[in-house]
Amino acid sequence: MVIMKTLTQDVKKQMLAEVLSQHNAQGRQGLIQVLQEAQNIYGYLPLDVQREIAFGLGVSVAEVYGVVSFYSFFSTEPKGEYMISICLGTACYVKGAQAILEKVESELGIKSGECTDDMKFSINPCRCVGACGLAPVMMINDDVYGRLTADKIPAILAKYKEA
Ligand code: FES
Repeated sequence: MVIMKTLTQDVKKQMLAEVLSQHNAQGRQGLIQVLQEAQNIYGYLPLDVQREIAFGLGVSVAEVYGVVSFYSFFSTEPKGEYMISICLGTACYVKGAQAILEKVESELGIKSGECTDDMKFSINPCRCVGACGLAPVMMINDDVYGRLTADKIPAILAKYKEA
């Protein structure tokens, strides 16, 4: 996902209007495509953007919201440049994933599901990522960290804070 956070709100609005003008004749058939493009523009799909899309395509806000909440790749919350996925699957959980999650939350000053004010990090607990032998596991975007302990978290996060 490309998050265009340097664009001003006006430019984003204009881009969304363009996307809608390309798809408005399609009505609900164009909905998923428009939602994907809108998420690329905004980084997520806040309610006012969903309303704009509903209006532009001539469908109800409830229908738009239904699609957004059905597909996991759509998000109604802002996402950070670095998505920290902490596995809370069974193998990771029994090896202390909760302590890892709490350490990440306290280091970043945000809760699970939230994004830092600078839009750099967001935290997303997830299910088994298929690396149970390395439990507990955390991913930062595509980087996998295994056999974690809470005391390793500050150094790992520091690499991304400096990036
Ligand atoms: S339970 Fe965490 S990787 Fe499988």
